[in-house]
Amino acid sequence: MTPDTVDQQIKDLIKKACEARANSYAPYSGYAVGAALLCDDDTVITGCNMENAAFGPGICAERCAVYKAVSDGYRHFKAIAVAGSPAGEPVSQYASPCGVCRQVMREFADPASFQVIVAGPDDEYRSYTLEELLPDSFGPDNLQ
Ligand code: THU
Repeated sequence: MTPDTVDQQIKDLIKKACEARANSYAPYSGYAVGAALLCDDDTVITGCNMENAAFGPGICAERCAVYKAVSDGYRHFKAIAVAGSPAGEPVSQYASPCGVCRQVMREFADPASFQVIVAGPDDEYRSYTLEELLPDSFGPDNLQ
């Protein structure tokens, strides 16, 4: 795959994350996040953040996507794109996944190869491996 093809695939995934972001339910923080999770077979499952009047039950966009995927039978993932910024505005900042979401992704992803793509302003993005964002992690192997 050429670097241009990879770049285009990443931009397509970011576009899906932005589309999911439009469904964000964030009346308390006013911060809208969308995520698009790329499964091993190239299926894309999206998620958005969903808040709650009781605060605690709210969920991040990344976990929403992972839980949707796992409940649909997908357990192997290659990448996730995340787009977050104040609601009603275009993406203006790099919204890196929170620690809880990093750990949830860790359950189903190979930390060395799974790519976390964080959308930024002006069609730009930053890309990390999960290992970079969650080094020396605790995972399923620890419990074998
Ligand atoms: N949020 C996400 O959806 N993903 C993250 O990784 C960080 C934060 C959401 C949770 C909450 O609804 C809002 O952003 C503000 O924290």
